[in-house]
Amino acid sequence: MITPKIPKIIFGGDYFPEQWPQETWKEDIRLMKQANVNMVSIAIFTGAIIQPDEDTYNFDWLDKVMDLIAKNDIYACLATSTAAPPVWLACKYDDVLPVTESGQRIDYGSRQAYCINSPSYRKFIRNLAEKMAVRYKNHKALALWHINNEYANKNQMCFCKNCEKGFHQWLKKKYGTIDRLNEVWGTVFWGERYACWEQINTPKASTGSRNSTKLLDYKRFLSESFFTLYLEEYNILRKILPDIPITTNFEGDWRKFDHSLFKDHLDVVSWNCYPDPANPDSRKWAALRHSMMRSLLGKPFMLMEQAPSQVDWYPVNINKPPGLMRLWSYQALAHGSDSIMYFQWRASKKGAERYHSGMIPHFGEDSRVFKEICGLGNELDKAKDIIGSDIDSKVAIVMDNDSWWTVDNPYGAAGSKSLDNETFWNANAQPFPTVLVSYFGELEYYFNALYDLNIPVDVIGVHYDFSKYKIVIAPLLHMIKPGFKEAVESFVKKGGIFITTYFTGIIDESVGVYLGGYPGPLKDVMGIKVEEYNPLPPGGKNTMKMTAASKDFKKNYDCSVWCDVIHTTNAKVLGTFVNDYYAGSPCFTENQFGNGRAYYVGTRPNEDFMKDFFTKILQEQGIDLPDLPQGVELMTRSKNGRSYYFYLNHGETEKKIKLLSGRYEDILSGNTYEGILTLAKYGVSILRGK
Ligand code: GLA
Repeated sequence: MITPKIPKIIFGGDYFPEQWPQETWKEDIRLMKQANVNMVSIAIFTGAIIQPDEDTYNFDWLDKVMDLIAKNDIYACLATSTAAPPVWLACKYDDVLPVTESGQRIDYGSRQAYCINSPSYRKFIRNLAEKMAVRYKNHKALALWHINNEYANKNQMCFCKNCEKGFHQWLKKKYGTIDRLNEVWGTVFWGERYACWEQINTPKASTGSRNSTKLLDYKRFLSESFFTLYLEEYNILRKILPDIPITTNFEGDWRKFDHSLFKDHLDVVSWNCYPDPANPDSRKWAALRHSMMRSLLGKPFMLMEQAPSQVDWYPVNINKPPGLMRLWSYQALAHGSDSIMYFQWRASKKGAERYHSGMIPHFGEDSRVFKEICGLGNELDKAKDIIGSDIDSKVAIVMDNDSWWTVDNPYGAAGSKSLDNETFWNANAQPFPTVLVSYFGELEYYFNALYDLNIPVDVIGVHYDFSKYKIVIAPLLHMIKPGFKEAVESFVKKGGIFITTYFTGIIDESVGVYLGGYPGPLKDVMGIKVEEYNPLPPGGKNTMKMTAASKDFKKNYDCSVWCDVIHTTNAKVLGTFVNDYYAGSPCFTENQFGNGRAYYVGTRPNEDFMKDFFTKILQEQGIDLPDLPQGVELMTRSKNGRSYYFYLNHGETEKKIKLLSGRYEDILSGNTYEGILTLAKYGVSILRGK
């Protein structure tokens, strides 16, 4: 259960009563009751309203809102009002606003306009969190804390003096002496040597490429800064109110900070899911991110925001046509959410987000969107048995921010240029073998291949326990950290299947290359040694020819992007390249290691290969491959020995699904099914075994 105060699937959204006159509040409550709303996120961007200047506080409006919702049995996911610092704070303290790489201080006038290491901003949030906690600690409406909002969404990569000072302290703690830092950073290269800590600047643009380890360490430092920023509030709320669960709502983009840092200081993972209705692959996009959120704590998460219909920030923002919002809401539940919430309750009249949809559109209650909201809100109680249920994934994909930060380089060697915020987070700004490789893109490619086979996948960090999985996949795991080799070897020895790909095991945690063949420490378990690699030009292809040892595969598959030149030491060659000077040398290998096997894929195979490869491996492991019509998704949640089968028809036409033997009850419609289940376009059934 997300919060003990609400033994239901949570249903509601971001509520901004401060944007509306008080007469509207009563109307809001009437409509919330109509839609069966049980929780609202409030006070997210209200720092300037609660604290109009340094010494004045104004809680009257919030007291009224809290009392009003409590009286109507609606609960608050209460934010601490820290996501939009007030203008007075930035005017009074010159460390509040972030500084760009070229030294320009970014101005106020939007939200999240603060440096994540600003002492004045941190003091402001500690104070506000404490005031909020003390004021509302005994309030009936308080059910969940919501710290800040979407860290890193609009926060800028900052290069101010406070960040630099913080970086120095972080480096001192990590390296102890400047000599050690010089050694680990490899500053002998291009004679970059630092004589003392004070000489170390933030990794700003210079004449050419920056120091790789310094750049990575700065990203690590900023990543940890997001976490320590969160702790400023978390520690206060936890101390004053140990029993109220705490969350912060994540974005779907994990590249700006390592989310696993938050793992032990988060009661509930929550996130904001905004797939584009214009993109036919949106359901995969959402499925991957739902899996990341579920796997972070290995328990149900919250869908904190989604759009009731269109957003306002894609180039073209199409509506969710009738039925799609309901389907995608159930998709979130199917992947482990115990809530359905939206941004936002009422579509804004003023401000930058006035073209964004709301649960109550500008048109008012007599609208298609509000009717669909009410339909879903009133149906959800029927699904309440799924609360707290698990998804038993037998397959995991390993994801690592350090590998991400050291691989992606869509701009080539843009090292000497000043990079804007998005670019900086995106790129490693280093010379690199190819701009065509994307870390997360590769991970997504593997995830989607399994998604297309309807296989649930957890997305886990490198230090997570592998023992509950049968198959662990580490696509493009560029950096191998201490402990990973041992974890993989022990997993495979005990019978696990491990799969990795090209450009894995190239560097250690300080960005030093592993000598003597890739994939560095994984050479033994893979039974191979990669001598060199050859990135292919845009559109370039090679062919994977399957050998006699690989009887389960069709004979040839196209491949692209990258070719490794591989020598086997113990592995069996399952496929060889057909073209280029390495024609006939391995591209795909299998190594028996103890009771398990390790597969190496030294290229980017086509989708046909991915399907055949995973079908074979999954079948061998006794993992069921459901037989479903195109466009139908199946996810299973289980609790107390009972399973709930979520069938979701993402297709545009009616679909007939062959059920496994037995009688099933649809917990939404109450209908009983045996043999065939028919799902209309965008139809949803949650079947429970009878
Ligand atoms: C994010 C933010 C919200 C809102 C929505 C709009 O998720 O958290 O405050 O801006 O985007 O889609």
